[in-house]
Amino acid sequence: MAMDLPTFPSPTLVGLALLVVMIGVLYSKHANNLRKRLPLPPGPPGNPIWGHLQVIPKDHPEQQFVKWGKQYSSDLLYFNVLGRPMIVINSVEAARDLIDKKGANYADRPRFVLFEVMGWGVTLTFLRWSPRFKLHRKLLQQSFTQSACKPYRPIQQEEARRAVKAIFYKPQDWEVLLRQFSTAVVLRIGFGIDIQQENDPYVQMAIDVEEATGKGGVPGASIVDFFPVLRHLPSIVEKISTAFQPLAHARRTKPSIQQLHDAPWDATEASIRSGKATQPSFMLNHFGRFLSNENLGKPNEVTIADLKGAAGAISIAGGNTTWSTVIVCVLNLMTHPKIQAKAQKEIDSVVGVHENGDITRLPDFEDRAQLKRRHVGPRCLPLGVPHASLADDTYRGYHIPAGSVVFANAWAMSRDEGVYSSPDDFDPDRYLSRTEGGKGEPVPEGPFGFGRRLSRLCWQLWIYDALLMKMAEGSSRE
Ligand code: HEM
Repeated sequence: MAMDLPTFPSPTLVGLALLVVMIGVLYSKHANNLRKRLPLPPGPPGNPIWGHLQVIPKDHPEQQFVKWGKQYSSDLLYFNVLGRPMIVINSVEAARDLIDKKGANYADRPRFVLFEVMGWGVTLTFLRWSPRFKLHRKLLQQSFTQSACKPYRPIQQEEARRAVKAIFYKPQDWEVLLRQFSTAVVLRIGFGIDIQQENDPYVQMAIDVEEATGKGGVPGASIVDFFPVLRHLPSIVEKISTAFQPLAHARRTKPSIQQLHDAPWDATEASIRSGKATQPSFMLNHFGRFLSNENLGKPNEVTIADLKGAAGAISIAGGNTTWSTVIVCVLNLMTHPKIQAKAQKEIDSVVGVHENGDITRLPDFEDRAQLKRRHVGPRCLPLGVPHASLADDTYRGYHIPAGSVVFANAWAMSRDEGVYSSPDDFDPDRYLSRTEGGKGEPVPEGPFGFGRRLSRLCWQLWIYDALLMKMAEGSSRE
């Protein structure tokens, strides 16, 4: 019987294969060199040592980026801050081409060392591209798909109604009542916690956390973000240079961020362990599954620290963004009575009005398609949350170095004069089609970010539109 002997490639074949590999390596090196020889995107001149550190304004850099964009006739700008490359994207087209279409390369975040000092280490928003990031994204995205969000709708609706009622009776407290509203929604969805209607300690916690995070400056821009080792310096340095004030701030405010992670968790843990918790929540789903795996002796993919971090992400990423967006909308409605009246008319036509002028019911989720007007004003994160690139890239003949910090300037995009007429005006009608009497302008894409870091959670927001319309109505009837 003939035996199959192992076959070896001939020396000629081995030689050919080696040649092909060498040509491949040389070609990719050559392409890499060519890419690196391409120019960087334009931008203002910087200092040879610290780059643009002192050129980029601390207040409203997004507006200066628009001016530079015009000056250099480019929607892509390049900066260098203490040796770290930074790219600012001023147009939807470039953001789509880079962050959406080349998502895998722009899915990273820069390391936010200052935020780590504050205690935001295990929060999806600030996690770098890593297995842990993927785990957290899976945890949160799965929990907030369109169908997974349905059990939360009654919660959103109930809280919106509570808020409208409370503001109706205490209009002077509207600001704090809106804070109460946004805190209530994220705490119920995150942890299943019902907050008190007045002076709830969680509302104060949310205010403290917002102060802590907001006053930490532009994420990734403090001295410890550039030189992480400096985070270990003793507190005396804070007295020596103002550059260390953000570090002092981060150390001082750490307890409030810790508290936001611990307090709602601690308040709920026992009831989930004992099986008494019934309100649908992220914590009930995931901690419940964690406990049942433990009981069955099955391994858990997540740790308690992961679950606390993910639930905390819902509070921080959802509470303040919602609150500030709603506040801006209310202010816009208050200063534009004609628009407010139109919004009211639209609601009246959808929900129906009694003979005495009272509406027959409040709007709910099913009315969304008919409520056409949307508040899409300037949002809370004009520069979004920065992405970081993983590898060298080329775009429109420019070189984008690996490790660049990439800002998508949502403010610039919503003010693109080529797309929006009088972009600074508050004009919700601009997004209605021409047949509906609007201007047919597109709803801005930037406010919720781009690419693989854009979170579906952010989109589950329309209830706030309805809430606002109701408030507009309430105030006009008074
Ligand atoms: C008006 C309200 C909101 C605005 C303007 C907003 C805006 C944003 C922006 C700009 C980003 C960064 C996206 C990027 O990197 O490109 C983001 C990320 C995120 N948002 Fe929202 N958001 C809002 C509401 C919410 C809500 C209600 C939740 C949760 C309940 C939420 C959860 C998150 C999370 C977890 C991330 C991090 C995603 C990641 O880094 O991979 N957001 N949001």
